[in-house]
Amino acid sequence: MGCCGGKKAPKKPPQQLHDEALAPDPDPGSKEPDPSTPHLFEEPDTTEIVPPVPPVQVNPPDFRIGLGALFPDFECRTTDGTFSFHSFLERQSHYGWTMLFSHPKDFTPVCTTELAMCTSLAEEFQRRSVQLIGLSCDSVDQHKGWTKDVLATKNVDPETTDEEELGFPLIADETREIASMLGMLDPLEICNVDRIAMPARALFLIGPDKRNRLTILYPATTGRNFSEVLRVIDSLHITHCGPEVGTPADWHFGEDVMPATNVAEDAFVDKAKEKPVPSGRRYMRHIPQPIMDSVQKIRPHAEVQPGDSDFRIKLGAKFPDFDWSATKQGINRFHHLLDRLKGDLTVMICWPRNFDPVATTELMGCLKFLPDLRQRRVSMIGMSCDGVESLGQWVKDAVSLSGSDEDSGFTMIADRNLNIAATLGLLPSDTAGHETCPARGLFVIGKDKTLRLSMQYPMTTGLNFAEILRVLDSLILTKDFKLATPANWQQRQRLLLDPKVSKTDASKFDNLAIQSLPSGKEYLRWVDCPKVKWFEEEVSPASPLDVEEWEPLSPPGKGQQEIRGKEPVEDKDAWCLSCGCGP
Ligand code: BEZ
Repeated sequence: MGCCGGKKAPKKPPQQLHDEALAPDPDPGSKEPDPSTPHLFEEPDTTEIVPPVPPVQVNPPDFRIGLGALFPDFECRTTDGTFSFHSFLERQSHYGWTMLFSHPKDFTPVCTTELAMCTSLAEEFQRRSVQLIGLSCDSVDQHKGWTKDVLATKNVDPETTDEEELGFPLIADETREIASMLGMLDPLEICNVDRIAMPARALFLIGPDKRNRLTILYPATTGRNFSEVLRVIDSLHITHCGPEVGTPADWHFGEDVMPATNVAEDAFVDKAKEKPVPSGRRYMRHIPQPIMDSVQKIRPHAEVQPGDSDFRIKLGAKFPDFDWSATKQGINRFHHLLDRLKGDLTVMICWPRNFDPVATTELMGCLKFLPDLRQRRVSMIGMSCDGVESLGQWVKDAVSLSGSDEDSGFTMIADRNLNIAATLGLLPSDTAGHETCPARGLFVIGKDKTLRLSMQYPMTTGLNFAEILRVLDSLILTKDFKLATPANWQQRQRLLLDPKVSKTDASKFDNLAIQSLPSGKEYLRWVDCPKVKWFEEEVSPASPLDVEEWEPLSPPGKGQQEIRGKEPVEDKDAWCLSCGCGP
């Protein structure tokens, strides 16, 4: 299956050009920037007139990687030989999990730090019965050459050690067939050499039942946080193999977990700690984390039918428009809402239902981190796949639990009929063995309404707000400074230059250091983190813009107020299109 309809070879085969662009300096001793040398993804200067390159075409993926979906099978040519993907999934005994993660290209900086991180964490993954398999759209030979660079960044000297392997296979998807089929290609990240879209950083955690349990899609410039992936794996082990519990937002191994709402109260008579909430409902219960055996069998999960949606969760896709509410003033369209928000980016979090314990901890997290989002000029939208009548009550519960006396301060959408969830591809979902619910989804949407980043976590695994802020900072640093964040990067740490930054421009960054590598290629270019206001300042709830100035939703019709979780509305004419409760 092809994905690069717009591809035109300029003068030489694209790969050859790319290799030339990456070739070491003829004088490796000199670190002086050479303005005549093309930057990594730039086409070399050519006197021949190159015909204009048509826009990049990316075929929609055939497979929609919803949570709970059975992972497709495909042939993999890898650094460990050729095999079918399903036979790889079956390599481990019945309890084995698999992490499949893609990389934009070999010999690129962020990818190198990610592979090095994964080899360092080999034992951690092994202890959790997780086998790894990477994917990059280059050849097996290139993967093997790149492996030497990766190992060198871990200070493994190739002269004195036999270590030549990463410890896991890398798929060589030269034709981009697999990346295209799995929806990994990011049309916003174009390789300047061959003019085709590169794969984003897609990551899937696949259960022993071959079903997808976690999907994250980060852009090429945002390195993944493998500590966060290990945290989600711990949550999956507990929530998919043991009793029916969820792990709250920001949970870490060893901390209390939350029984599902359908678990009878008397199941935890002695142990459950309960937090009272204004609605009077008894769902905010905590129990100690169950002790897990090292070998866990996954609970059987119900088969779910894929929801029908044209929207594929892939980076660069235009976020769909839909009706999200109706008031006396008329129907509100989602794109109109996005236009009215002042943030440069918008975070939209979708929750499976109101009064869900894990979702409540996330709503509390949103309230807590709202000032941090505003400082970064990021707007927030919430959506719950539940009725509008109880949404206001649920928001009040979360406001009360978070100790805030404010309203949510951001728009909340009710989607009781799951119409929007289906449009957003959040169905099929993880059924958690008992009930079909949409997956929890987090989308970061750009000013141009394209999808910039997405996370689909299982219903039972709460998000991590530190990770959300980390990836937002990465997106902002890329946009403002052309910087990329290495694997597990944390705020204020040193950063990598995007390969698209030329040598001349690279020299303008603070404390540029080019790491030498066995390949001789100069792509690991480290620089200091720029002074970003919010890294230095304490966040105050009112800064820099107050709520009203930030998100003026005018005219505030009563129906809209209801949707925003304020006082229940008496006006029977006010209605919400999303949940179908009409006048
Ligand atoms: C990277 O791995 O650093 C990278 C790859 C492609 C585009 C941007 C960054």
